[in-house]
Amino acid sequence: MTGASLDWRSSASGPLHGVVPVPGDKSVSHRAMMLAALAEGTSHIHGFLEGEDTRATAAAMQQLGVRIDTAGDGTRVVHGVGLHGLRACAAPLDCGNAGTGMRLLTGLLAGQAFDSTLIGDASLSKRPMRRVTDPLEQMGAQIATHDGLPPLHVRGGRALQGIRYTLPVASAQVKSALLLAGLYARGETEVIEPHPTRDYTERMLAAFGWPIVFSPGRARLAGGHVLRATDVTVPADFSSAAFFLVAACIVPGSELLLPAVGLNPRRTGLLTALRLMGADISVENEGESGGEPVGDLRVRYAPLHGVELPEALVPDMIDEFPALFIAAAAAEGTTVVRGAAELRVKESDRLASMARGLRTVGVVVDEQPDGAVIRGGRIGGGAVDSHGDHRIAMSFAVAGLRAAAPIRIGDCGNVATSFPGFMMLANRCGFALSDAG
Ligand code: S3P
Repeated sequence: MTGASLDWRSSASGPLHGVVPVPGDKSVSHRAMMLAALAEGTSHIHGFLEGEDTRATAAAMQQLGVRIDTAGDGTRVVHGVGLHGLRACAAPLDCGNAGTGMRLLTGLLAGQAFDSTLIGDASLSKRPMRRVTDPLEQMGAQIATHDGLPPLHVRGGRALQGIRYTLPVASAQVKSALLLAGLYARGETEVIEPHPTRDYTERMLAAFGWPIVFSPGRARLAGGHVLRATDVTVPADFSSAAFFLVAACIVPGSELLLPAVGLNPRRTGLLTALRLMGADISVENEGESGGEPVGDLRVRYAPLHGVELPEALVPDMIDEFPALFIAAAAAEGTTVVRGAAELRVKESDRLASMARGLRTVGVVVDEQPDGAVIRGGRIGGGAVDSHGDHRIAMSFAVAGLRAAAPIRIGDCGNVATSFPGFMMLANRCGFALSDAG
């Protein structure tokens, strides 16, 4: 599934300029593919992210008997089989590197008439799954794990019962898994979050015609309805845009325009954080696409200063910390991050990966159990490891723009999980990024 080990070299360059069309949103693409597969009728997904993570979800739905075509313009055409139309697949479903794919599919498969097995790559095989399997088992599901880790063996033919569940940790993946299982459950399933998280599953269920009541931090639905095919336009992924936002913020003279980026408020915490640090970012052409707020982001260089990041921002920028750490390293003064222990169970332990990498390039970082204190200033050169984590790799590609000597980044193959074409887009706007051989 994941790319071969591939090292990159990123060097300082002149100002960044141009228009950067980043690919489709990963979270929206996973959900659109799953709901379209379960819908009655044919759905078109425009702008589907053709990354390894979301392609793994599409492949899993195909293995379960769903016909999916790709139109000439790249639109995915999904011939839905209806809520009860999936077919058993004897082979394991390989989610690759994708936590979202695996956790959401677990919820979806818990209500099927047949057994399934979900597997993942080395990184995914180390990520905690009890946060999903425990509440699903409370609903009546039966799921075997390896000590809480993948592979997951999901037993079919179970009668699910809706529950009211308060999440111990804010997680859109867990919320979504329970809502997907709730489609198959008797009675109501209600999920309550300690802090609101991205609500794509809720919005998209409504778009596919399923009755659902939701507000920030709370969602409730009942089983026994029908999903009706609909067309989805996937906005550009804010989390992919984040690398270019930070890049333009830290390279003097830069100005970039990122068109039609998804601006769901549960995703844009980094905008607030960078503005607190002094960034010059404006939103233009605000509108709506497929029920999601979108806008063009214009970012111009501005000197950044360190901040104490408000903890309330953490869930709204949960995937953007690697990029934020680079902004902090390039800023004047100290940045303090707290309340972000969840970063330890992402595609890598992102607090450890970033702290180690930044220290390697001469930045003073005090890693803490739930965050870090980063002293901004000079970034040097050196060889860092991405730990197979796409966002760590792209973050150090950005750091290289401000580094006194080239940064070599180990193991960048996984960038293709979320951002195929990153290197090409980056170099087109002025990065000096190359294969290190
Ligand atoms: C996601 C939710 C977040 C995020 C991940 C995508 C989603 O994970 O980090 O990249 O699409 O629901 P958690 O639910 O574990 O916070």
